[in-house]
Order: sequence, then C-alpha cells, then structure tokens
Amino acid sequence: MPNSNIIAFGKQCCAFEMIKKITIDQLIPGMFVHQILEQKGTLSVKSQGRVTSNDLVNTLKKQGVKTLAIDTEKAFKIGDSASSSIVKDYLASPNEAAKPHLVTLEKELTRASKLHEQGKAIQKLLLENVQKETPFDASIPKAFSNKLVESVDRNPDALLCLTKIREKDDYLLEHSLNVAILLANFGKFLGMSDEEVQDLSYAGFLHDLGKIKIPDEILHKPGRLTDSEMDIMKGHVKYGVDYLKETDIAPPLIQAISEHHERLDGLGYPAGTKGNDISQAGRMLAIADMYDALTADRVYKVGMSSQKAFSILMSDAPDRLDKLLVQQFIKCLGVYPVGSLVLLSNERLAMVLEQKGSPLTPIVKVFYSVRNSHYLTPKDIDLSVDKTVSITKAVIASDYKIDVNAFFERSVSVG
Ligand SMILES: [Fe+2]
Repeated sequence: MPNSNIIAFGKQCCAFEMIKKITIDQLIPGMFVHQILEQKGTLSVKSQGRVTSNDLVNTLKKQGVKTLAIDTEKAFKIGDSASSSIVKDYLASPNEAAKPHLVTLEKELTRASKLHEQGKAIQKLLLENVQKETPFDASIPKAFSNKLVESVDRNPDALLCLTKIREKDDYLLEHSLNVAILLANFGKFLGMSDEEVQDLSYAGFLHDLGKIKIPDEILHKPGRLTDSEMDIMKGHVKYGVDYLKETDIAPPLIQAISEHHERLDGLGYPAGTKGNDISQAGRMLAIADMYDALTADRVYKVGMSSQKAFSILMSDAPDRLDKLLVQQFIKCLGVYPVGSLVLLSNERLAMVLEQKGSPLTPIVKVFYSVRNSHYLTPKDIDLSVDKTVSITKAVIASDYKIDVNAFFERSVSVG
C-alpha cells in the first residue's frame, strides 16, 4: 500500500530517496530536513541538513516552520559517512551542555566513581582476553557502556570530572574509558538517539583493545617512534578489528573502530580511507581519542591543558579531522571543561565542576592558594553569581606541583 505521507519532489530526488512529510512537532534530532514546506511569516528557511539538536528544532518552531519534508534515507545512523557538508547550518548550541541535571553532582559522583573503577576492571579483562586471543562475553562491556550513558544522562559532570583523575600506569585502561565517556557526552550534545549514543560510547570503550599486542617498549616509548616502530604501532588497529570481527559486535561499530586513525586527507591508517568514506562515528572517535591522548599525563610526559589540546585539534582540521565536528566537540566540553583546573583572579586555583549559563562563568571548587602555596578548605563558587572573581586562565596541576588526585579524593569524591 502506498503511504500518503511519502511524497516525491520530481527531479529533486532520486528513485531511492524516501521523502516524508511531517509536522514541526514530529521533528526530532537525527532527522534530515530535505525541504521546508510550510512556514508562517516572511522569514524563509531554505537550508537542507540534519537536525543535530533540540535547540535547532525549537529555532525552526520560532521561525514559524509548520510542515517539512524529511529524507528518511539520510536519518542519522552510526555508520553514516557524510557530515561536514550537511551539518553546517545546524551547529548545536552550547546551551545543549547546560540543561538541568537530573541529580546533583555530589550524588552522581558516588555512582560514577564505582562505575569508573568497574570500567577499568572490565577493560583490563578485555585486554587480557585479546592478549590471549580468547573470546569474551560481549554482554559485559555492552551493559557497562549502557550504564555509563545512564550516568551521563543523570549528570554528565560526574564522569567528566573523573576523566581528569588518572593513575600514570593505567593509561591503557583509562584512555579507552575516558574516550567512551567523552563520546557519550559528545553524542548527546549532537542530539543523537539513546541507542546511537550507547553504540558510540561502546565503540570508544573497545577502540584500542589491539594495543595490548604492541610491545611495551614501543607502546610506552617516551620519544618519537622510528618508522619501523611506527609500523608496529599502527598494527594495533588491525589486531583489535580482527579480534572484534570474531565477536557479535555490530559491523558499524567495528567500522568506526577501524577508522579511528584514518584522516580526511587519506593519509591515515590502516586503510588510507578518505573524506566522506570515513563514517561520522569514526570521525567522532578520532577527535575524542586525540583529545584524551593530548590531555593525559603519562609516565614520560605531562598532559597539556584542554585549551592547548583544542587548538591542536583545530589546527588538525580539516586535513586530518572533521572541522565542524571539532568545533562541536569544543562546544560540547566548553571553554573550561568540567574537571579542568583554572587560575582565578584572586590567585587561587579551582577545579571546574559544572557549566551553567555562560561557558566563561562555570561553578568551580576553589582549593589552593597560589600566593601562599597551600591548600585551602575547598569552597564552591558560582562564577556567574559571584562577580568579584573571574577566571584568569586555564592551568595544569604540574605547573603548581599539586596532586589533583589526592585533592579530588579528599574534597570532591564522596564515593
Ligand atoms: Fe588507537
């Protein structure tokens, strides 16, 4: 039976496109707008593109849009390839990150801390299985990824704070966990469905399993790798992908994992996949992977500030990374990401706890006096309310020789 809602637009669509007429109230993030059909007033919206956030839906409502034609073939799926060309008119608003949280940070931190520990233990187990080439029960990491997304739903700041708490020897375990957390936030920010966010986060959790097959002296080498060492290092993608192909992990997830070192200019590895042939999930994974690697403290290097990492991500776009997605990622985490350290105008250090309203005035926990070089009784300040202090700049803990982990355990974590 022909569906009366499926309409064709003559030469504008090919035989395989499915153009469906909907009302503005039916529009949700993830849909691809083919054409605005009916609109009140004189302001005309003409752009085509994917709806990436609820804010955009609201903007279209405010602009008087009443009915639209959507292309159901282009609705967002995890294996999607084209993104740059179609999201440009639909950049999600930074306010997306400032929605009210379902539970307080303090409450969620208890659960998130346990989840974080669990995540490291599961990652360790997976790596051991990959090392021994024995199968693992995929329902365990899948259930974990879903729990992780639920925590981000309740209060995204709790797990984001925990991404900053690192043990130098646990890089391999923490990196994949952090990438999963970052992707859960990023996917939500872009207005992806719950299922898409779970899949994306799951891909992040599994993306570097092949690294366990790389000899430690190469994996943890402080300096630059030689060409032959680099060739060995590059093998981690294939090891991981080959292993995962023997499991029942969905092919689009494995595709995204296989693409996390590809570059848009085709100079990446292992396949040299280029441009739009790299899936959107693969591009998002590449950004989160690089950001976490740049900001991580390692045995041999101090992690850089988020601001410096953001500038490197931007300078790597569009040759390597998808520029629009990098911009979205930065908007998602905010100018001063949750968990990062800032120097205040009163010469005190604080950790960013929550972004509310303007990204320049988050809620922070003040805990250290730079002038007197000593710890203070921690105190929360909402910089959007207390106008007597402001952020001078983003800093890293090693600049002041302070131990953030100890501070966190004492003053922030209640788990
Ligand atoms: Fe990797």
